[in-house]
Amino acid sequence: MLEDQFLLDPTVVFLNHGSFGACPRPILELQTRLRQEMEAEPVQFLWRCYEDRLEPARAEVARFVGARPRDLVFVTNATTGVNAVLRSVKLRRGDELLTTNHDYNACHNVLVETARQAGARLITVQAPFPLRQPSETIEAVLNAVTPRTRLAMIDHVTSPTALVTPVAQLVRELAARGVDVLVDGAHAPGMLPLHVAKLGAAYYTGNLHKWVCAPKGAAFLWVREDKQKEMHPPVISHGHNTPRPGFTPFQDRFDWAGTADPTAWLCTAEAIRWLDRLYPGGWPAIRAANHRLAVDARRLLCQRLQLEPPCPESLLGAMATLPLPEPFQGQPRSGKIDADQLRLYDEHRIELPLLRFGSPERRYFRISAHLHNSLADYSFLAEALAGIAPG
Ligand SMILES: Cc1ncc(COP(=O)(O)O)c(C=O)c1O
Repeated sequence: MLEDQFLLDPTVVFLNHGSFGACPRPILELQTRLRQEMEAEPVQFLWRCYEDRLEPARAEVARFVGARPRDLVFVTNATTGVNAVLRSVKLRRGDELLTTNHDYNACHNVLVETARQAGARLITVQAPFPLRQPSETIEAVLNAVTPRTRLAMIDHVTSPTALVTPVAQLVRELAARGVDVLVDGAHAPGMLPLHVAKLGAAYYTGNLHKWVCAPKGAAFLWVREDKQKEMHPPVISHGHNTPRPGFTPFQDRFDWAGTADPTAWLCTAEAIRWLDRLYPGGWPAIRAANHRLAVDARRLLCQRLQLEPPCPESLLGAMATLPLPEPFQGQPRSGKIDADQLRLYDEHRIELPLLRFGSPERRYFRISAHLHNSLADYSFLAEALAGIAPG
C-alpha cells in the first residue's frame, strides 16, 4: 500500500498534495538522522563538512531537472526563488513587468512591490479560464507585450486553475520580443518532465517539497549563466565576499543564508532516488500514473456532479480545477478559509482547497493526485459534494 509510505492521517481523505506536498516516512527518517548528526557536532556539520553533503544533493537535483549543477542553487521555497530574482533585476521607471491573473498570490505580491519600488508598471494579463486550447493563453500574454516589457513571470503549472502552461513556446515567443522570463515552476518538479536549461528562460524556480516529496523547505533556483552576475539572494551573507574554490560566485552567495536547518536540502537527492526505486518504472511512470489519476478523477467528478470541464485533459498535470456545482455558486465570501471547505473537513474529513476565480467570480475546487491517492478518494468527494447543502 503506497499510502502507508506517508505519514498522512489515515482518517483524512487528503486531496491537497498540491499545497504543501507530503513526505514519505523513510525520507523523514533520513532527515531525523541528519538532524541528530547536526546536533552532535554543529560546527563539523554546518561548517567544515557542509559542502560535502550539499554538492551530491545539488548534482542529483540538477540532473533531475535537466540543468548544470553550477547554474543551480537551493532555496527554501519557490517564494524565495521569486523574491531573489525580482529583487535582483535592475528596473527603470516606466519599465513593465508582466504576469497573468493565474499567478500565485505570494509571488504576485513580489511583483507588485518590485514594481512599486522601481516606479515600474505591473501588467496582469487576464488569461482565459475556462479555455479550449493553450494558444488562448499564449495569445493573451503576447498581446500584452510592449516595447517596455522587461520581464514576464510565467507559472509552469498555475496554482488556482491547475493548468500546464506551454512554457517552452511562450519563452521562445517572449525571448523573440526581448522579454526575459522567470518561470515559477513551484509545482513542476516531479509532476512534469523537466529540461530547465533547454527552455531558454532566464530564471526558473521550482519546489522540491511538493511533487518530489522532499521535506518542507526544499526548492531550487536556476539562473542562466549570463544573468548570474546580477543575481543576489534576498538574504546577504558570507558568500558576498568569501569565495570558495570550485564554486561560482552565484553559488557562494546563495549556499549560505545564515544559520538554518539545511537538512531538507540534503534529503532531496534521496527523495528523488527513493521514489524512483519505489515505483516500477521510476519517475516517468510516477508522473504518468499521477496524470492518469487526475484525469480519471476529473472524469468521475464531472460525470457524477454534472460539471463542465474547464479545460482539455491535455492541459492537466497531476491536478485539476473544476467548478463547484451550481448550488455553491453566488455564495458570499466567508473569512480566511472558505466555510464549505471547513465543512468538508469537519463533516467528511476531506482535505480539499476551494477557491474563487475570474470575473464574474466563480467558485472552484482543485484536486491533486499523488501516489498516496486512489480513485476511491475522489468518489468519496463526489458523494460528499452531492450531499452537502452549501453556505
Ligand atoms: C505557482 C506557485 N508559485 C509559488 C508557490 C509558493 O510555494 P512556496 O510556498 O513553497 O514558496 C506556490 C504554492 O503553492 C504555487 O502554486
